[in-house]
Amino acid sequence: MAVRKNIGHAKSLILLLVMLGFSIATYNLVSMIIVHNKSRSLVAVESFGGRKVMESAKSNSKYHVAVTSDSAVYSQWQCRIMHYWYKKAKDMPGSDMGKFTRILHSGSADQLMNEIPTFVVDPLPDGMDSGYIVLNRPWAFVQWLEKADIEEEYILMAEPDHIFVNPLPNLASKTQPAAFPFFYIKPDENEKIIRKFYPEENGPVTNIDPIGNSPVIIQKSLMEEIAPTWVNISLRMKYDKETDKAFGWVQEMYAYAVASALHGVKHTLRKDFMLQPPWDEHVEKKFIIHYTYACDYNLEGKLTHGEFGEWRFDKRFYLLGPPPRNISLPPPGVPETVVRLVKMFNEATANLPEWDSVNRS
Ligand SMILES: *[C@@H]1O[C@H](CO)[C@@H](O)[C@H](O)[C@H]1NC(C)=O
Ligand SMILES: *[C@@H]1O[C@H](CO)[C@@H](O)[C@H](O)[C@H]1NC(C)=O
Repeated sequence: MAVRKNIGHAKSLILLLVMLGFSIATYNLVSMIIVHNKSRSLVAVESFGGRKVMESAKSNSKYHVAVTSDSAVYSQWQCRIMHYWYKKAKDMPGSDMGKFTRILHSGSADQLMNEIPTFVVDPLPDGMDSGYIVLNRPWAFVQWLEKADIEEEYILMAEPDHIFVNPLPNLASKTQPAAFPFFYIKPDENEKIIRKFYPEENGPVTNIDPIGNSPVIIQKSLMEEIAPTWVNISLRMKYDKETDKAFGWVQEMYAYAVASALHGVKHTLRKDFMLQPPWDEHVEKKFIIHYTYACDYNLEGKLTHGEFGEWRFDKRFYLLGPPPRNISLPPPGVPETVVRLVKMFNEATANLPEWDSVNRS
């Protein structure tokens, strides 16, 4: 351990000197990530012994709710609704919610700063995201973890289209974060590609959880170790043509799954973490509604699978402005989750001030 530490020290010192010498003025993300990596794991190694003692002395199981977002109108109205339901769920019995931060990766403040606690971070340098904006997420987390003062020991990584439907306890433990298993994330069926980023010496690809970064509740110190690796893997996946093609819009989910496995971290898989209407029909004791799928029904209350329904709700109708207040309820027979979603939208939009005007582009 001591030897590794010294080598790490020397390396990061050299890297720092190299950076200072050659790139004071140039913004060199790649070497920043490497320095991040080294110094992060150093901190982790050094503080591990002490952390255990501290933990047994004080039990603070609250988690910080962190949602990454840009400042597009489409993201803004979703964040407003999400934050509204966070405020309602926070103090309910059974909730372990701490504070809330919208990590805004547009690089500048927007008009919601007074309504939603917000931490502004930089986007990736121009062109680096190759037009794939979610690559900004891991980089946003790295900056936030580094610069913000976060009281809670745990972090919930959430997304703007999440709504808290039941009070969410801390599902993580000190050593094992909790995540939602996605049926379409299949590391074992993509071994050839995964091996480019998770070489054989790390173990079987089944070590990689079928998850994305959200929703995940994770100890902050673990997140600090994983986040820089997550940036690195995201960029490498994007720049690798075969991987970019195979993983498409879910590559940044795979990147988190691989990055956490590279750090030897396994997640407790919690199916009750999240509901995805219209596929999940009953709210039960589940915690987050994720409204990413279109809900199309005919007037008999039957799902019309990919065809326009006579009653429909799809967040993508509202790319350029917020949805109207008082959306009509679905016809009888439509699943509970969809009805709840519409009611929760309506309650939030009825109570949020200047709903129609404040976030129009
Ligand atoms: C990822 O990290 C490796 C070394 O750890 C480095 O060689 C590589 O350039 C990094 N890639 C990116 C895109 O940051
Ligand atoms: C919402 O719309 C319904 C009709 O769809 C109407 O009966 C109701 O009064 C409206 N509520 C509000 C608060 O505007």
